[in-house]
Amino acid sequence: MSHEDFPTENPAVVTCGLPYANGDLHIGHLRTYVGGDIYSRSLRTLGQQTAFVSGSDMHGTPVAVNAEKEGVTPEEFALRHHEKYEATFPRFNIEFDNYGHTHDETNTELTQEIVRTLEAEGYVYEKEIPVAYDPEADQWLPDRFVEGACPYCGAHARGDECDEGCGRHLEPGEIEEPTSTLTGNPAEYREREHKFFAVSDLQEYLQEFIDRLEGTSNAQNQPREWIEGELQDWCITRDMDWGIDYPGDEGDDLVLYVWVDAPIEYISSTKQYTERVGADTFDWEAAWKDAGVSESDAGSEARRTESGGDIVHIIGRDIIQHHTVFWPAMLRGAGYVEPRAVMASGFITLNGKGFSTSRNRAVWADEYLDEGFHPDLLRYYLATNGGFQQDVDFSWSKFKDRVNSELVGTVGNFLYRSMLFAYRNFEGTPDADVSEEVEARIEEAIDEFEAGINDYSVRQAGNAAVRLAQFGNEYIQRNEPWKLTDEDPEAAAQVIRDCVQIAKAIAVLFFPVAPGKMQALWEQLGEDGSVTDTAVDDAFEAPPASFGEPEALFEKIEDERVEELNEKLEARVAETESESDESDEDAENDMDADSDADIDFEPIADDRISFEEFQDLDIRVGEIVAAEGIDGADKLARLTVDIGVEERQIVAGIKQLHDLDALSGTKVIIVANLEKAELFGVESNGMLLAAGDEADILTTHGDAVPGTKVQ
Ligand code: 2FM
Ligand code: ZN
Repeated sequence: MSHEDFPTENPAVVTCGLPYANGDLHIGHLRTYVGGDIYSRSLRTLGQQTAFVSGSDMHGTPVAVNAEKEGVTPEEFALRHHEKYEATFPRFNIEFDNYGHTHDETNTELTQEIVRTLEAEGYVYEKEIPVAYDPEADQWLPDRFVEGACPYCGAHARGDECDEGCGRHLEPGEIEEPTSTLTGNPAEYREREHKFFAVSDLQEYLQEFIDRLEGTSNAQNQPREWIEGELQDWCITRDMDWGIDYPGDEGDDLVLYVWVDAPIEYISSTKQYTERVGADTFDWEAAWKDAGVSESDAGSEARRTESGGDIVHIIGRDIIQHHTVFWPAMLRGAGYVEPRAVMASGFITLNGKGFSTSRNRAVWADEYLDEGFHPDLLRYYLATNGGFQQDVDFSWSKFKDRVNSELVGTVGNFLYRSMLFAYRNFEGTPDADVSEEVEARIEEAIDEFEAGINDYSVRQAGNAAVRLAQFGNEYIQRNEPWKLTDEDPEAAAQVIRDCVQIAKAIAVLFFPVAPGKMQALWEQLGEDGSVTDTAVDDAFEAPPASFGEPEALFEKIEDERVEELNEKLEARVAETESESDESDEDAENDMDADSDADIDFEPIADDRISFEEFQDLDIRVGEIVAAEGIDGADKLARLTVDIGVEERQIVAGIKQLHDLDALSGTKVIIVANLEKAELFGVESNGMLLAAGDEADILTTHGDAVPGTKVQ
């Protein structure tokens, strides 16, 4: 079934995935929070009652291992980071109605209550399982205290997730060739009793749920493989003392798995919001509690409309499984409302490569602000630079281009020129009615904005205002009011009246993306109060008759500034790399508990291709006959490659990475039917395959002769 469009009569809750309280925030981390903030502000603009909540994820091994490295208690460590996050988000105009943390009393109590309910409903059982153990450290090894090989894809995996391979959640005991990250020794598996949540009992429910789930298509499709396959039960306890005690086992070193109490913070945080503002303003129970749907109704179409709120989870795509399998199962088992939608964002790269906190290869959140950039510029970039589920690359140069062309050139230019004209000639809004053409165009922009929100596309919602500004520029240009002021003042007044209305509509529709800048516009328009309190219909209300001289809202970023920022970034990365070369040995034992591993692997592509599509590629074994650098090009080399049936000239970016003289005779793998290209004036007839930034050239293990097809 499809849900009723927003705005609905239900309370909505927009949540953002909880950041682990274990490191500094860089601008890549901000993508989902910016998306969540824009989405919740947009819902409110549409008139939807909305709470926007999140909190810090304080528990689990991601926090425990880093605290141990620093030699402080996990609580002290996590609280320090929590406070930092709490202060950082508002600096980017990310304004949660409540930002709590998983270790507080509300979440501790609610988590234990939900687990007790699951127990009472018969969903929890005990089972003996193998758990990794380090005999030297005399310690159990939960989650990130152990690493090894993923049993599903063979990739290197850490603890509870195959973060470098298939992305699956891994249960205790599943990892193969386990090694302790405490001592680096092989770990043993020892039998131990743990509690399990019978997710498999809810398989039928989950199969129906996934058909109802809205949001981005990656979140709707990726879980099908798990939900439709053999659904495993979920171990919900860990041998640690940092976490929420398993209810009734307070004395024991058995705590709840971090992924149990983390999403419950979505509810706890909403509850805290209600406690602060009162249930008349926002009732957390009306939003989260399933108002008693009988078993016979379960899964029926009537179910979703009868009770509860519209819950929208905004997350990174690496945690889809938790939000579309374990979490809805828990909610269902404990009598809470299921999510209406999950929006899972793509990742962010920096200059085409992964962010790396350990290599200092990042633009840090504080650093961005300290460079004097307004938060709304980054919000715009992150929200509209690609679809929400697509990966987005950040570079100072691309950032500059978007700011200069769209914010300065389109939005800022329209607002400044039309308001300045209005101020100079009419001291504010001319006395006239808005033309039908402009009213219709504003309506169109509102429809686009509303459709964007109902399609879970922050980009579309954000672009509605930019496209309206584009129209405004065309409109003013086409009507040339500057030529009319003397000849036909009434016609001039009409054009400017229209433009001022467009400016006001932009303030309303662009406010979710650029709240700070649009508040400034609101004030320039002479409006009282806060643009936060506006709704879409305000886009049609006349602005005050008089307002003062406007100021340009957006400032151009100069090329020199970009160069300077790039140099700073490069110098910093180089400095960190030389430091880490010096302490390579330490680095080997370094447990990087951040979600960025030392090498930041790109995620596995979401979209599968068919075998037929793969067969379209003509991949062959070749042998390098000659290799030489291309004059004037820093990186490019011209290769002559024997591919059995003929010799090919191939240009490859390996000049600085390989000793070209030594390459002759090397077996290589090439894509033979790629379109020809010209690189640095030299034709490249095929592509050499190589791995990673160091261009590690792919070769053959056996003695396949040149021309052999790779299949
Ligand atoms: O993967 C993570 O960073 C987790 N801290 C996300 C938790 S989101 C939720 F479920 F609370
Ligand atoms: Zn795997």
